Amino acid sequence: MDRLKGKVAIVTGAASGIGRASALLFAEEGAHVLAADIAAGGLGETLELLRRSDPKAESLEVDVTKAEDVRRMIEKARQTLGGLDILFNNAGIEGDFVPISECTEENWDRTLAVNLKGVFLGIKYGAHAMVEQGGGVIINTASVAGLVGVRNFAAYAASKGGVIQLTRTAALEYARQGVRVNCICPGMIDTPLTARLIPDEEMRRAAAAQTQPLQRIGQPEDIARAALYLASDDASFATGTALVVDGAYTAQ
Ligand code: NAI
Repeated sequence: MDRLKGKVAIVTGAASGIGRASALLFAEEGAHVLAADIAAGGLGETLELLRRSDPKAESLEVDVTKAEDVRRMIEKARQTLGGLDILFNNAGIEGDFVPISECTEENWDRTLAVNLKGVFLGIKYGAHAMVEQGGGVIINTASVAGLVGVRNFAAYAASKGGVIQLTRTAALEYARQGVRVNCICPGMIDTPLTARLIPDEEMRRAAAAQTQPLQRIGQPEDIARAALYLASDDASFATGTALVVDGAYTAQ
């Protein structure tokens, strides 16, 4: 309890999955949370859940690929919640699961725009706000697909590899200004994103059990707890890292 007491946190992709679980955990730990997402419906549900532990919680419809939206999101946190201490750039899409020969330019552009440009814009404007107030923490959601190749997932894997390198570069640029920048590389986690890729629940669980040595699918809370660690002062010496939380998938 209270590991983020009084901190102001923005979580993108907060309408669903990992983002929602993280927003709720941050609020339980004392943060005031601005939940941001492009999906208005899920966002409303997240806000309702958030306000049980954080009556000041706010939400905002945002497309992370648009600089104007990202700037508006950061401004809203500063104006309604009083600052910006933690930014979790988590919004992401899976894109099409197809071989490179069938990967359209539209799929490539959209996947890179949400997963990589969205994180770039968050860092660009979020870090600026944090430097002005004397420091902060940025966390980005990458993936094990940023560490190893994944057949039929070229745009996604390229975007997540990009997130890891962007994280490292931002950590170097902001180290002296009090802004820590880290990313998380989740393995297969039980969220709507995974359900879209493997709709049958039995098959989804079996696939996770076969590929991840811990023999289970990860839960959004597994990643939320990793994000909490990185967001908290427990991680005060951690920056520029890619924290792998994957049931040993990449240890093989
Ligand atoms: P999800 O689909 O449940 O949640 C993603 C959220 O991002 C959705 O609420 C969606 O509306 C939002 N979003 C999509 N495009 C957006 C945009 N342009 N602007 C703002 N919000 C937007 O998926 P999940 O699994 O919770 O994904 C969260 C992050 O975790 C993503 O970056 C994903 O790539 C990453 N990840 C997920 C893994 C998994 O197995 N579920 C594994 C590794 C990484």
